[in-house]
Amino acid sequence: MKRFLTPLFTFCVALAVNAQPVPATGSPVLRADNIDEVVSALTLEEKVHLVIGCGMSMGSDSKFPGTAGRTYDIPRLGIPSAFLADGPHRLAMASKREFDSRTYHATEFPSSTTVAATFNPDAAYRVGQALGTEVKDYGMDVLLAPGVNLMRNALCGRNHEYYAEDPVLVGKIAAAYINGIQSEGTGTCLKHFAVNNQETNRNNNDSRLTQRPLRELYLKCFEIAVKEAQPWSVMTAYNKVNGKYTCEDRELTEDILRNEWGFKGLVMSDWNAGKDAVTSIAAGNDMLQPGQERQYNAILEAVKNGTLDEALLNLSVKRVLEFVVKSHTFAGYNYPNETDLKAHAQVDRQIGAEGIVLLDNKNALPMAAGIRKVALYGTTSYDMVPAGMGFGSTGFGYYTVSMVEGLRNAGYTVDKDLLNRYKKHMADEQKRLFPHGRPPFSFTPLPRAEEFLPTAEELAAQVKANDIAVLTLGRVSGEGCDRRVEDFLLKENELALIKQVSAAYRAAGKKLVVVLNICSPVETASWKELADALVCAFQPGQEVGNCIADVLTGKVNPSGKLPMTFAVKYGDAPSDANFPFDYEFKLPSFAMGTGMNFKSDKKEEKPKEPERNVDFTLYEEGVYVGYRYFDTFGKEVSYPFGHGLSYTTFEYAVEEAAIDGDRCRMKVSVKNTGKVAGREAVQLYVKAPKGGMDKPVKELKAFGKTRLLKPGESQTLTLEWNVMDMASFNEKSSSWELAKGEYQWMVAASSADVRCTTVQKVAKARKQKVHDAMRAQVPVAVHPMVKR
Ligand code: BGC
Repeated sequence: MKRFLTPLFTFCVALAVNAQPVPATGSPVLRADNIDEVVSALTLEEKVHLVIGCGMSMGSDSKFPGTAGRTYDIPRLGIPSAFLADGPHRLAMASKREFDSRTYHATEFPSSTTVAATFNPDAAYRVGQALGTEVKDYGMDVLLAPGVNLMRNALCGRNHEYYAEDPVLVGKIAAAYINGIQSEGTGTCLKHFAVNNQETNRNNNDSRLTQRPLRELYLKCFEIAVKEAQPWSVMTAYNKVNGKYTCEDRELTEDILRNEWGFKGLVMSDWNAGKDAVTSIAAGNDMLQPGQERQYNAILEAVKNGTLDEALLNLSVKRVLEFVVKSHTFAGYNYPNETDLKAHAQVDRQIGAEGIVLLDNKNALPMAAGIRKVALYGTTSYDMVPAGMGFGSTGFGYYTVSMVEGLRNAGYTVDKDLLNRYKKHMADEQKRLFPHGRPPFSFTPLPRAEEFLPTAEELAAQVKANDIAVLTLGRVSGEGCDRRVEDFLLKENELALIKQVSAAYRAAGKKLVVVLNICSPVETASWKELADALVCAFQPGQEVGNCIADVLTGKVNPSGKLPMTFAVKYGDAPSDANFPFDYEFKLPSFAMGTGMNFKSDKKEEKPKEPERNVDFTLYEEGVYVGYRYFDTFGKEVSYPFGHGLSYTTFEYAVEEAAIDGDRCRMKVSVKNTGKVAGREAVQLYVKAPKGGMDKPVKELKAFGKTRLLKPGESQTLTLEWNVMDMASFNEKSSSWELAKGEYQWMVAASSADVRCTTVQKVAKARKQKVHDAMRAQVPVAVHPMVKR
């Protein structure tokens, strides 16, 4: 019974329908409590099929067109498929189906970065819950999300799908998002496990790092999410870590994930990841997606010739069945095939606005009562970026609220002449950029319209006719390729536009607000003084225009904080040199999993030696990622991690601080001391005593967010963490070590704005031994920038 369609390279079309289980007489029928019996009733061939996917459900003849895949079904034993769709910010599924006049729209929720910028696990839970509902309502079972890879570098193409540069923020937000999805009985898949921090040559790149950053940063994000949320599944990554493909590394999946962290679910590969199917199964990577015939043949052969122990295969099969019995499909859920798009749009609008970060404000925001007429500049104001690109993304489209619409909804007038001028410019740009028409969808970012500069007369007329200028800058990135330094920098005409508009409006006593509608940081240090307010909106989802308008008008008081540092320039972070920042892409992302890689297409240019930052990447910065580097080495930044202003002010006071057995607790009261209602995200950093290991000057250990506080109102937040969360990983002894001595607990409004500090004593050193796993196979030098 072979069910493979042409597997490699092209997107294979899965079998049309998931046949209704028709158990054969005498055979067991799958139930949650007879899985072992069902495993015994399977033929070897059926077992191998179960650990392999059924191709991607891209074709219009599949049950859920445009989705990522499904597990194998065996009707004779009552085993249905469980259906998998991509996330993280939307249920990725085609909205139109062949011979079907209906639409199957899914909500475009805020990007993961935006969700993290709320610093609010409840917000992540709400997004998760709404997504879990949509997946269930449309008849599917598992969302392939969240992505929790650490933002190691500002140029990673998938940063928008990830949360932050700090593992505690990543882990806590991810755990809440998972709990939200799973509260609806929908499954999740925590990805990409692990150290998957660049897209360049993503199928083959080897991340080389020592065990300390591996444990303290890159695995920590996953560890917190696994322990606090138990996702149904974990997806291994495309890349290698220290020489081994992650899906073929038993130390990663068995020693660390299962034995140390107690993960109980299924491990699946990323789509077409790895090379050796048999090694993957032996490594405890239970299911290979989307499945290839050569993988099927290899596993079957290996069991027959004894190179793969059938007991290992049985274990993986059992985990697949445990996964399937949890699904809506297995429960026979009678799905409505429509979802509450209106309610979910509200979730997007609220959380999208909550994730907006007010970077600077010279009395320009909220827009004063007298302001009614807005001049909108920047092509992005008219073509907003709701989310990033990639499989989990906008490819299939729903709607996007523009800035024009958002401001009009809020009762403002948008300059019509300027709007018409932009309409014409955008139409011309579309013709220039896409002479053969814009492709219907793309996984990687399409080129965006260039800016044009108004003439002096036009500008003078616009200043006269309007009360304020709002200028939006956009950046979009996607799966399959990284950003270039040029994407971090402003383009010449973007800068020229900001300069012109700023000068003209300021000369007339009027203000300029700049909005960043971006996937990852951009350069701000050189020009930010030209803006009277700077707002970082990241990518808030389909309601983007409404979300931004809510903040500009003061309907929502901004409470987002930066989940990553905005450096002064590219090159300031120690990881910058060890990243493919200038790599030229020649192949489309479609080449993934084909054995082809993303290296230069010019054969004669191919270097003989493995190419640095392409074939392998050295994590020479160790644990000094993001603020851990900037704060420790006193390097100036444009905006620090955790930064975000409000239209009001807050005062903090420590009410209680204590170590109680294995737990640390700090009670902080936050008072709104300003004139309008607002919310505040409070951060708790810890500085370790001297004498222990070399450590960053501060590390985030907990955070919390107030409810909406009226002027004068206070709330006490209780921040808690484990004593051993303050430990460091000692590579020599493979153990977490907590030095004794005085620890500074810093309550802060950002990593650079510490408000109060208390000192807590750890009387006795502690040590916790773990596996000596995933050691670097070649020496990884210490980068000169982090040498002390
Ligand atoms: C991505 C995963 C995704 C999978 C299925 C891969 O290319 O890396 O994040 O879940 O495709 O669409």
